[in-house]
Amino acid sequence: MPNRALLALARSDRARDLALQLPATRAMVRRFVPGETRTAAVEVAAGLVAEGLRVTLDRLGEDTTERRHAHRVEAEYAALLGELARRGLARHTEVSVKLTALGLRLPGGEEIATMHARSICETARTAGTTVTLDMEDHTVTAATLRVLRALRAEFPETGGVLQAYLRRTPADCRTLSGPGSRIRLCKGAYDEPADVAFASRHEVDLSYVACLRTLLAGEGYPMVATHDPRIIAIARHLAERHGRVPGDHEFQMLYGVRPDEQRRLAAEGETVRVYLPYGEEWWGYLTRRLAERPANLSFFVRSLLSS
Ligand code: FDA
Repeated sequence: MPNRALLALARSDRARDLALQLPATRAMVRRFVPGETRTAAVEVAAGLVAEGLRVTLDRLGEDTTERRHAHRVEAEYAALLGELARRGLARHTEVSVKLTALGLRLPGGEEIATMHARSICETARTAGTTVTLDMEDHTVTAATLRVLRALRAEFPETGGVLQAYLRRTPADCRTLSGPGSRIRLCKGAYDEPADVAFASRHEVDLSYVACLRTLLAGEGYPMVATHDPRIIAIARHLAERHGRVPGDHEFQMLYGVRPDEQRRLAAEGETVRVYLPYGEEWWGYLTRRLAERPANLSFFVRSLLSS
């Protein structure tokens, strides 16, 4: 499970400022976040699409504390979607959005975030593509699912994310496995208390497979987001057993993680989407990537010692 001490650093400005002084940080950031600007990210997305992959772009940032910042996030997504459409990429790309970046934690935040998310969904539809709402920590799970439900009433193509480590998720999968539902299933990346989330890797994996069964047996469009080779093999087996074919479900992986496997699955005919984050607010995202894999952390520490 993710390293708790590291996840705690995700909210520390001091740790971020210290890390920024180190050349090794930049190299690590580049591995997971290939661009700080929209233009750079769209360029990388175009390259991935040319290789036969799909992409979901995430403008990094979370926990907006000011209303005008939420407006800026919405405007950035509008500009991104416009650029994807202009470059003819909209069919193979979509956007991932965090509701806390759109103001979910502000007073009256659910309404504010819904308003901004609705506007992004509208722009995405005009551009010819879709939006997926990322899932954040458990304190916003219920609100995020309520916003998803509200958006789907107008934009049924809107996707959501469920985290297998949450005890509630098998039930959420049952609710969200109906026709038209687009659900990304991931293990979960936040530090959660034991009363809401499974603590051991084994329990999370069991929950993931149970959720996979529900989603793949259902009538929606499951998005299997994992790098875990065992779970990928199980997903492919279950998909076949339920008569699914590439195109009625997809695999998703993060930019910079198991890139050869992404290409191998795509070459075998699977639909594979790469999650591509960009922007300057990469600290929270980077600490989650370091926390979920000790090898990343030791690589980082070794680079620090030699810098
Ligand atoms: P696990 O962590 O067990 O890793 C399996 C194997 O994958 C490892 O042994 C290693 O080989 C490789 N691997 C995994 N993580 C790696 C890393 N950081 N660096 C290098 N190798 C790594 N979470 C969330 O809470 N909300 C969300 O909205 C999303 N969205 C999302 C989208 C997509 C497309 C993906 C792939 C993942 C997310 N996640 C997420 C993150 C997810 O919850 C989870 O933390 C990571 O995917 C790691 O879990 P795995 O399923 O890969 O398994």
